Amino acid sequence: MAQFSLPKNSKVQKGSYFKAEGASNIKKLKVYRWNPDSGENPRTDTYEIDLDNCGPMVLDALIKVKNEIDTTLTFRRSCREGICGSCAMNINGTNTLACTKSIKDCKGDEIAVYPLPHMEVIKDLVPDLSHFYAQYASVQPWIQTDSVPLPDAERLQSIEDREKLDGLYECILCACCQTSCPSYWWNGDRYLGPAVLLQSYRWIADSRDEHTGERLEELEDPFKLFRCHTIMSCSNTCPKGLNPGKAIAEIKKQIAERHVL
Ligand code: SF4
Ligand code: F3S
Ligand code: FES
Repeated sequence: MAQFSLPKNSKVQKGSYFKAEGASNIKKLKVYRWNPDSGENPRTDTYEIDLDNCGPMVLDALIKVKNEIDTTLTFRRSCREGICGSCAMNINGTNTLACTKSIKDCKGDEIAVYPLPHMEVIKDLVPDLSHFYAQYASVQPWIQTDSVPLPDAERLQSIEDREKLDGLYECILCACCQTSCPSYWWNGDRYLGPAVLLQSYRWIADSRDEHTGERLEELEDPFKLFRCHTIMSCSNTCPKGLNPGKAIAEIKKQIAERHVL
């Protein structure tokens, strides 16, 4: 699904073209640019990348642009190995991590790079994730207990119970799934979205947490949870291979069971 991110009331104009003089093995990087301080509309700048002098990932190409061609290009990155989630962006129409997306896997002679879709843009490829983080905090993503722990002992978990967290704890909060969900695009003010719901389920599924009932009650809401219409683009786009759509279905199931039992 093609996804684009445009600040309101603006259209993307064609920007500058940067040639890689003397290079024979090139790929073009077409990058969304917008600087709120300039007062100008967004544009796309195109950079020719000399692949013989560039690392293998799209993030390597962006770093090359920033270091060698255009220092004004702004993007987030930290770990460069798919752990921190900060380099999430839209590459050739799919939300993914620039540091784990291989240039070789991008078909055609041009790679289109946009910010995560349907978010306010701070600058260039940097989306404003403040609301997303506030939604994450709202599900209280930490263990909650009422019982007094045994002295000098950890709260233990069986191997089977620990396995229930597989596919959940690996989430790096990159927001690729969150910003690929049409329900979140239109109701993101009140719908919690797939990443936040997967994180919430990570604590619902944890055998050591003693606030499962309160967590489910909090989510039983026509907007917070039930704006998920099982579209599943969240699961299709997750760069870590996780399945937020399934986690949401589990929450819905547990809420339904509470009413039957
Ligand atoms: Fe990113 Fe996947 Fe977590 Fe969504 S579920 S935030 S896509 S790691
Ligand atoms: Fe959206 Fe995923 Fe539900 S794409 S509608 S959160 S299954
Ligand atoms: Fe950390 Fe890409 S730089 S996930």
